[in-house]
Amino acid sequence: MPEKYAIIVGSGFGEFIEDDGGDCVETEYGRTSAPLRTRIMDGQRVTVLPRHGDNHTLPPHAINYRANMAALAGHGITAVIALNTVGVITKVRKPGEVAVPEQLVDYTWGRDHTIHAGGADFDHIEFTEPFSARQRRRLLDAADAAGIDCYDGGVYAVAQGPRLETAAEIDRYERDGADYVGMTAMPEAALALELGLEYACLALVVNRAAGRGDKPIHGDIESSTLSARTAATRILNRLFER
Ligand code: HPA
Repeated sequence: MPEKYAIIVGSGFGEFIEDDGGDCVETEYGRTSAPLRTRIMDGQRVTVLPRHGDNHTLPPHAINYRANMAALAGHGITAVIALNTVGVITKVRKPGEVAVPEQLVDYTWGRDHTIHAGGADFDHIEFTEPFSARQRRRLLDAADAAGIDCYDGGVYAVAQGPRLETAAEIDRYERDGADYVGMTAMPEAALALELGLEYACLALVVNRAAGRGDKPIHGDIESSTLSARTAATRILNRLFER
């Protein structure tokens, strides 16, 4: 069966989202962040879903991750490429660059993190490898083909937000083995696995994490987002090139 791809678009990707109307999808978990829209990339149909809503009104802790992932599964999607902006903690990358993380540590709380309702019907999914090896490989091959220096690996610490971290929290994440910090890969990655979707993250490094840089974080984000986004777009264009 051919793969059916969705891209979940994070912050800073306005131009990927053509708001041409349509309705959010109603699922048994509630409504998706936005309508599921089809984009044609080199003749291939790709579903695009902006995680934070069309107008970026949903902060990370208020996103209905279950509705988003259940709607994608219901739509026949088999593979998800998630774009996530992150701050970088270690020296693996610089702001403006991209990476395909290999592991994550989940520090989020209070989010609906499983599709199961709480009765006897649950699954202890194996989450040893939280990201699909096959989709990671495809992203890295597409980056190579596009001539983009994309880091293979690293650990993504998923923070609750919406505030940014304290310097001490970032020190703790680094002691825990994290290279990046973001707010949106969980519970998205676990829900994808529960629903049988292959899921990989293309991380856009847009700032140095709290206490790691010498300028205010928002200034860092402003000056680095365009270059990370350009790299990510080139990788996606290559990924879907036939
Ligand atoms: N912390 C958490 N989430 C983020 C950051 C950060 O520094 N940058 C982009 N998303």
